[in-house]
Amino acid sequence: MVVHETLLSRLKDKTLVVEAAKVGSKWAQNAADGTRFDVVNPATGEVLASLPALSAEDARQAVVDAKQAQKLWAKRTGKDRSVVLKRWHQLWIDNADDLALILTCEQGKPLAEARGEILYGASYLEWFAEEAKRIYGDIIPSHAENLRILVMKQPVGLVGAITPWNFPNAMIARKVAPALAVGCAMVAKPAAETPLSMLALAVLADRAGIPQGLFSVITARSSSEFGKEMTSNPDVAKITFTGSTEVGRILMRQGADQIKKLGLELGGNAPFIVFDDADIDAAVDGAMAAKYRNAGQTCVCANRIYVQSAIYETFVEKFSAKVSELKVGNGLDAGVTIGPLINAASVAKVREHIADALDKGGEIVVGGGVSDLGPLFVEPTVIRGATATMAVSREETFGPLAPVFRFETVEEVIALANDTEFGLSGYFYARDMARIFRVAEALEVGIVGVNTGLISTEVAPFGGVKQSGLGREGSRYGADDYLEIKYVCLGGQEV
Ligand code: SIN
Repeated sequence: MVVHETLLSRLKDKTLVVEAAKVGSKWAQNAADGTRFDVVNPATGEVLASLPALSAEDARQAVVDAKQAQKLWAKRTGKDRSVVLKRWHQLWIDNADDLALILTCEQGKPLAEARGEILYGASYLEWFAEEAKRIYGDIIPSHAENLRILVMKQPVGLVGAITPWNFPNAMIARKVAPALAVGCAMVAKPAAETPLSMLALAVLADRAGIPQGLFSVITARSSSEFGKEMTSNPDVAKITFTGSTEVGRILMRQGADQIKKLGLELGGNAPFIVFDDADIDAAVDGAMAAKYRNAGQTCVCANRIYVQSAIYETFVEKFSAKVSELKVGNGLDAGVTIGPLINAASVAKVREHIADALDKGGEIVVGGGVSDLGPLFVEPTVIRGATATMAVSREETFGPLAPVFRFETVEEVIALANDTEFGLSGYFYARDMARIFRVAEALEVGIVGVNTGLISTEVAPFGGVKQSGLGREGSRYGADDYLEIKYVCLGGQEV
């Protein structure tokens, strides 16, 4: 056991940190070849824990166990499944402080944000525990007098899940909750940077009485071996993935031979538009939330801020003043609002985008410098004079950099906003009702925030259009992603 003192000493329940993986019905302490990998605190560089680096063979074993468990689970009533999931939900809430601490230590986000994520994740479990009882079918008026037409909804079966490091709790929550609610099993692979959060949930799943084998957590250094196994294993009915568009494409290609069902929540390049009739102070608050939550590391982060010419200077001034108040530091320290980025590659990407923007005529208003707190800390930065030629207008930065673009007309900004292969989310601030409908309808995205910078909730469908993904998570639509529709044509009915 190498679990670091920073983490261990603060936990109320030390058994929530495990240095093992959940493979089907067993906890595996070691990989067959003995290899392990370290989980590192991005704020301090300390090794938090060491985990077995499992192979495709382990994932295959998890699939065997899950297949058995899923058959029995699917036979249980929706109400019965709901009761078990509610127990898990209660444990999730009861242990929120510890789960938040684990999350901050492995991911870096400030403790208050981590706690928010734990409750956000738990809300998916609560929502789908309730939905488990409401997976309704249909009876369709028949086309023939002696026939009756029934539509049943049945679980797709066994689902392979790959989740990212930016929301180590909420991203698995919104996959495993609907999957289990409707009668599926799940074999999941957390990101190598942040596996402890999902493992803690697996500990709580055991305590809640989630049947053994139904939820596996496979730890490994990279997702590629796991992805290959899930896409090629005929017992896996569906893959659900949150992460980059690039990896989404790979999974799609790999799954093609078996026409594998896919749920993909991929990259974004969200426009955040402020029209001249907007409440500027509200727009500044919205931009802060949409840009700097999780240090800019969310798929729905405002990546490009477009401000109409007449209010450009006022917005930049007010926004920059707020950004300069952000406090960068270790997420465990009081008052910190921006934690470290997850790794050196993320820092390099932000630096590249800043350098490119400066080369192309952008001007730094706030930040831009190197933080002396450690190699993964980046100063929250605002750049004015951003233009469409800059890398930041085409690529997702995934960091605390806000480029502010100027625009003149509604037509111009709609064209700019839609000029990207991504289509996850978009935001705008305006007061004119006709404009609100026009822009909401014109933006080529799956989620629109109008006069708000926060759009995430378990009760609404989350997902993208274009190359931002397939399917929806959350809301009643989120259950559909784990269901098959079966049509039964019932003949021989008395006329
Ligand atoms: C994401 O970054 O993929 C999810 C963000 C959210 O749920 O708000």
